[in-house]
Amino acid sequence: MMIGKTFAGLVTGSSLAAVLLLNIGMAQAADAIAVPGQQKGNSQGVNAPATNEDAAVTRGRYIAIAGDCAACHTDPNHGKPFAGGYALETPFGTLLASNITSDKTTGIGGWTEAEFTRAVREGKGREGENLYPAMPYNAYVKVNDQDMHDLWAYMQNVPAVDSKVVSNQLPFPFNIRLMMMGWNLLFFDKTSFVPVVNATAQINRGAYLVQGLGHCAACHTGKNLLGGDKSGAFLQGGDLAGWHAPEITGNRYVGIGGWSPEQIVQYLKTGSNDIAVASGPMAEAVTNSTQHMTDEDLMAVASYLKSLPGSSTSKPQPLAATDSAMKQGANVYSANCSACHNSDGKGINGLAAGLANNPALQSLNAQTLMTTVLQGGRGAVTLNNPTSGAMPSFAWKLSDQQVASLLTYIRNTWGNAAPAVHADQVTQVRKDLKLPAQMGAASASN
Ligand code: HEC
Ligand code: HEC
Ligand code: HEC
Repeated sequence: MMIGKTFAGLVTGSSLAAVLLLNIGMAQAADAIAVPGQQKGNSQGVNAPATNEDAAVTRGRYIAIAGDCAACHTDPNHGKPFAGGYALETPFGTLLASNITSDKTTGIGGWTEAEFTRAVREGKGREGENLYPAMPYNAYVKVNDQDMHDLWAYMQNVPAVDSKVVSNQLPFPFNIRLMMMGWNLLFFDKTSFVPVVNATAQINRGAYLVQGLGHCAACHTGKNLLGGDKSGAFLQGGDLAGWHAPEITGNRYVGIGGWSPEQIVQYLKTGSNDIAVASGPMAEAVTNSTQHMTDEDLMAVASYLKSLPGSSTSKPQPLAATDSAMKQGANVYSANCSACHNSDGKGINGLAAGLANNPALQSLNAQTLMTTVLQGGRGAVTLNNPTSGAMPSFAWKLSDQQVASLLTYIRNTWGNAAPAVHADQVTQVRKDLKLPAQMGAASASN
């Protein structure tokens, strides 16, 4: 399975002011992401090598996992932990994540702790040059001194790999690092973590993890035209290439306010709960990072997310079952989908996502749903769920109109309510995903 994920955009110069949406396009499947110590196909995800473990190193290894450093800094094709080379495709060219092993010449083995801390929290290279915000320093700036120190202790113990990586492969003028100065001025909020007033220690621990190491906003917060975080829209949903990272605030309709803290923890720990299954970019985040976090930390994350009031998006009236798109959708659904997702939309616990009462299904943006139906998908592979479920591709079988009606139907049945999906939207997604046009389905009777 191929997965795309997109990261923060960049300002590329005042006159150009172009948006540079970084897209780790067509990365490997979640289970093939090379992470420390991981065998191909091993469901353990990040399993960093244990060497010279003193207490700081052990703690630092946990910080590296919570920060998901390995996901970007490991080349999935060669699998040497933290040796870099992972390509982040952008519309203007390629950026490669750096070699951050302890190698003295090609890695960061010769760096000082201060240089390392400045790179992670302020986005400056060793010579003080600006790093591109594909490296999520605008989140890591919230990481406290103790955690940074432990992380450094761990990174120094990562086995050296001699491999020269030239990160900046962007063509002129996007290769000019100075341009990031403008981006930083506009969008980089250098403040350290500020505790939430009048909140419990648990909520504050969650806030610290979500805003900092977890860099959840990199995907779940919408971006403005220049690729900075939209203001007032924190964790209220963001668009990635081919995916929509849904709202994850306490909003009960499109957010996760209706989920209990235990359901959120279960999703982050195992990759699914009785409603949703993590797939695509979120499957990677679960496999590599959140499944290895402690239950206490995941509970803290859950209570913080639930404490956020979120957007004002509220539930509309569902479309009537007698609507013609709804009727066509019902037929396509019963012929193609009900075997796995059930006629009551409840799915199969831990395997096939539930569609009834699923907040992500009702997001205003139906990108994930179109991608999943056209291309198929795979749930997160975790220690708790080493096989997970797979969804077949329907691109070859269903016409754009059928997919649109089908999605309109599942978004407005079983208590769900959300705007209709139109055929031209499906046509566009099919084109973006470079999937073949459907063959012969236009004549199908459903
Ligand atoms: C979403 C992808 C991503 C994640 C997650 C990520 N990085 Fe990076 N990192 C990058 C990219 C891309 C670069 C190169 C940026 C550039 O050249 O401007 C980079 C650069 C760096 C550098 C500078 C290296 C050099 O030679 O200049 C350091 C140090 C670093 N990252 C450490 C970390 C650590 C530690 C973590 C986890 C806490 C982490 N990164 C997580 C993408 C990522
Ligand atoms: C690389 C991008 C990315 C990052 C980083 C990321 N997410 Fe997600 N997340 C997604 C996408 C995409 C989905 C939708 C997945 C699906 O529908 O299968 C999602 C789904 C979710 C859901 C399920 C919501 C629902 O209604 O089904 C939760 C909860 C969640 N993410 C929490 C988090 C938290 C907490 C963090 C930070 C620790 C995080 N995510 C970081 C991309 C990301
Ligand atoms: C063979 C079993 C199977 C069939 C048939 C199937 N699905 Fe799925 N579906 C799954 C599994 C497993 C998942 C979870 C993995 C994923 O999201 O890719 C899933 C996920 C989904 C999701 C994503 C939910 C989310 O929150 O991201 C949607 C939407 C969906 N299916 C709709 C459909 C529709 C519509 C059909 C009929 C055209 C269909 N499925 C047919 C197994 C199936």
